[in-house]
Amino acid sequence: MGLNSVLEPLDIGNITLPNRIVFPAFQTNFATPGGFVTERLLRMYGRIAEGGSGLVIAGCMAVSDDGIPNTNALRINNDKHITGLKELFSLINKKGAVPAAQLMHAGRQTSSAMTGYPLVAPSAIPCPVMKEMPHELGKRGIERIQDDFTEGARRAKRAGAELIELHGAFGYLIGGFLSPFSNKRQDKYGMDKALFFTEIIEKVKRKIGNTPIICRISADEFVDGGLTLEETGKIAQRLVNAGADIISVGAGTYAAMPHMAPTADMGEGVHVYLASGIRKTVDVPVICAGNIRSLEYADSVISKKMADLAAICRPQVADHAFVRKSLNKQPFVRCTDCGTCLFFLRGETSVSCPQNPEL
Ligand SMILES: Cc1cc2nc3c(=O)[nH]c(=O)nc-3n(C[C@H](O)[C@H](O)[C@H](O)COP(=O)(O)O)c2cc1C
Ligand code: SF4
Repeated sequence: MGLNSVLEPLDIGNITLPNRIVFPAFQTNFATPGGFVTERLLRMYGRIAEGGSGLVIAGCMAVSDDGIPNTNALRINNDKHITGLKELFSLINKKGAVPAAQLMHAGRQTSSAMTGYPLVAPSAIPCPVMKEMPHELGKRGIERIQDDFTEGARRAKRAGAELIELHGAFGYLIGGFLSPFSNKRQDKYGMDKALFFTEIIEKVKRKIGNTPIICRISADEFVDGGLTLEETGKIAQRLVNAGADIISVGAGTYAAMPHMAPTADMGEGVHVYLASGIRKTVDVPVICAGNIRSLEYADSVISKKMADLAAICRPQVADHAFVRKSLNKQPFVRCTDCGTCLFFLRGETSVSCPQNPEL
């Protein structure tokens, strides 16, 4: 089988992605407690970028101190973060990949004991997993966090990110606003659940001009009363109308954790059908993710026009040269689906991978 589709470059505005493979956002907890880039992060992203993915999305990066997902996540809420990020994006670029930054606010899916701030969310409803009551954001809180995203995007661009991804998936703050599962507001942000996100896109767009924006969403949250493809198809259209240049499709929330990083028994390309469903509703490229374990499979998804780009995460964690070795028909170290990298579920402090002790 050829790999013509997965190796075809893709133009997004002024940027050319050299191929259709993406290393998606992957929160390692390898930053400093203040959210600064470390040597360990530089080593990991350098090797992954060298490994052959066309687009490497660094992060996630928290836009506000009350939105960090864990102790040592990257942050982008202060100009002091720019120097380290400059080094990171320039390294990714030098190694042959296009660098992007994922910006996020964890909303109710974190803990105040860890962030040091009260939790905030669209409504005062606890996440069923974290079980901590968040504060409902008022108008000023909403504007403050929207501005935090805008400032984060400005910093990411200044540091050299060529695309900006806004994290609206997995039930974090933006995803929480999108979903009837977590947004029970009576004001305009409840009547129009996409409004919080579309306003962020518009504000970011005004700030960073023609830098392309990726919007990541959970196309199905797999929770009772949550989002399904029927609504997320319409949401994706709204995001594109507001300025999104790419839609990235994931699934699940903390209440449906296995869908966020699906196990092998859930099936190869378990969420490709969701990306395909979203792709039918929008006229911008769509990224699929979830158990894509070979370039041949990624190629078949793209050649069948079910998605335009394929995110391959854990296989590139287990072997940073997964893409290059696959192309050269060399043996590579496989992801065994052991789940060790999901450190937060195991009470570990950061990512590790038994298949890749050098990580
Ligand atoms: C340890 C770990 C951390 C992750 N962190 C993020 C993140 O910060 N942002 C995000 O959008 N997705 C995150 N993901 C999800 C991945 O980007 C990806 O969608 C998921 O792992 C499915 O792809 P895969 O089957 O190729 O691993 C994470 C996944 C894992 C395993
Ligand atoms: S820790 Fe396990 S699941 Fe995670 S990338 Fe490594 S082998 Fe795969």
